[in-house]
Amino acid sequence: MLRVAVMVSGGGTNLQAIIDAINDGKITNTELVAVISNNKGAYALERAKNAGIKDILVSPKDYGTREEFHKALIETIDSLNVDLIVLAGYLVVIPLELIDKYENRIINIHPSLIPSFCGTGFYGLKVHEAALSRGVKVVGATVHFVDKGTDTGPIILQKAVEVEQGDTPEILQRRVMEQAEWKLLPEAINLIANGRVSVVDGKTVINS
Ligand code: GRF
Repeated sequence: MLRVAVMVSGGGTNLQAIIDAINDGKITNTELVAVISNNKGAYALERAKNAGIKDILVSPKDYGTREEFHKALIETIDSLNVDLIVLAGYLVVIPLELIDKYENRIINIHPSLIPSFCGTGFYGLKVHEAALSRGVKVVGATVHFVDKGTDTGPIILQKAVEVEQGDTPEILQRRVMEQAEWKLLPEAINLIANGRVSVVDGKTVINS
């Protein structure tokens, strides 16, 4: 059974997609052990409560220094004894020590086809604003392992989404979530939970 912690900062629609996929049997062999947020007001924490999943707040505001926050976050995660950490809209920089400890055991959902529109400063609506500003005809989402860079780890899954005439950043964001993010993240977790993903020479291999 894959023990999973999901880290969130906002509305939690990706978390909800994971919860629903487990309930629907689209994700097997997986237990959501806890949902962790930096943001006390994150609706994702309500979604966790509603689903009977432990909700944990570890907020930088509660610690005197960034180092103390990192220490508390790492201790909290270690105490959960998880196999996989899922970043689902988690907007705080992950401590490098955590990435070392959980190498190729942290995944992230990014709302673009990496390497487009990613890296520092590309998050949330900013990604879609940049895509519309460039005038691309295809966008999408990417699930990748987290390494010490920003959106630079081995790519696990990607899914393309059409840009439509008249799209606003908000409309495009919603389409990417509905058509890509909410499908890819559960699929990636299911693949990992069933031992079908490995990393060879910095690239993923998806085994049938
Ligand atoms: C999503 O757009 C995701 O791609 C990005 O942050 C947003 C999280 O949304 N990483 P939600 O909290 O899952 O609704």
